Amino acid sequence: MIRLLTIIGARPQIIKAAALSRAINTHFVGQVEEYILHTGQHYDQNMSAVFFDELGIPQPNYNLHVGSGSHATQTARITEGVEKVLMEAQTNGVPFDGVVVYGDTNSTLAAAIAAVKIHIPVFHIEAGLRSFNITMPEEVNRIVCDQLSSILFTPTQTGWENLSKEGFVEGGIKQRVHFSNGKNQYVVLSGDVMYDNSLYFSEIADDKCDIIERLGLSYRGFILATIHRPANTDNSTNLQSIFCALLDIADSQDIDIVLPLHPRTRKLLSIQLTAELLQRIEVNNRLKIIEPASFFEIIRLEKNARVVMTDSGGVQKEAFFFETPCVILRPETEWVEIIEAGAGLIADADYHRIVEAYNVLANKRVAFPPLFGDGHASEKILGEICNYLI
Ligand code: UD1
Repeated sequence: MIRLLTIIGARPQIIKAAALSRAINTHFVGQVEEYILHTGQHYDQNMSAVFFDELGIPQPNYNLHVGSGSHATQTARITEGVEKVLMEAQTNGVPFDGVVVYGDTNSTLAAAIAAVKIHIPVFHIEAGLRSFNITMPEEVNRIVCDQLSSILFTPTQTGWENLSKEGFVEGGIKQRVHFSNGKNQYVVLSGDVMYDNSLYFSEIADDKCDIIERLGLSYRGFILATIHRPANTDNSTNLQSIFCALLDIADSQDIDIVLPLHPRTRKLLSIQLTAELLQRIEVNNRLKIIEPASFFEIIRLEKNARVVMTDSGGVQKEAFFFETPCVILRPETEWVEIIEAGAGLIADADYHRIVEAYNVLANKRVAFPPLFGDGHASEKILGEICNYLI
């Protein structure tokens, strides 16, 4: 029996992990035993616990409760905690055979460092993505985690190409003889586990969640916005431009905007925005600021919105899965295929570009080709992990 330790910590990882857990429970029973470690990077009820309940994920076997902190503090605490769990398992004679990490958060990086240093293979899901913007903490986390991983599961062709430029040549293999089991690192184009999840949960969400009705929204009759990246929340010019654009679009187009607010953004609003802008937000009935959304809520919002406006990578992609065009509130994106397909426009935090991008996408026929796999990425990933470890 293969013993895997799955690391989760930030909101999107909890959701991504649901796809792999489901595949283990349906296709790999008796072959793979999964243990879940929650780092505690996200800890609010609506940033963490709500997803376990909604997606039917088993409670984590371990919780490090690290909470918030500077990058160095958070990363160090998680590394220490993960190492302890891995070493205790070894001491108790039930070692983990591999560690599964998702995406690009501090939890991802920290767990990869802890595992590889005690010679436990790391399997990185969502590998190979690059924004080529090293000021993003996530870009640092991705680059380092990819270097340390035994198998790099990339969701898209672009991810594969990025890695081949970084030396994963000859069928995605990189020679690295000093890996503990003598095996080379390699890349697998697996497709996207979030696509698996969106397909699986979309109808369940329609059935179980009434957010559209509760907020009095209509199909393709509103905008969904999300803002949480430090480049926007920690920069008052950027945050003000985004809010001015949202308010002006809502008023001039007579359209509702739903904004589920990340706690980081909520805490910074009164610091970064002028009193006048805060007042405009307060009295505007079109801009509906709500608590962070559950997964079912965000899926339904993405599926029904006319346009999505976001600085989140995951939300960009889910909008695409549900054939909703997307204005990207960042200077670049890792999901370049969305732009190439014409289903998204990069507007950064620039007032005029945001307004212009909205006007283009709200009035354009957009194509949504299948770019993110076939909805079976999780099975493919588990099959590869089993081959590697057996
Ligand atoms: C993290 C990830 C980011 C991911 C995002 C998803 C890193 C570097 N960033 O960003 O890639 O897109 O998660 O949401 O790992 N906070 C709370 N309650 C919580 C969690 C956070 O109030 O449960 C507040 C705290 O003030 C905290 C701040 O949000 O300091 C930022 O949280 P943190 O986990 O450091 O980063 P995110 O912005 O959530």
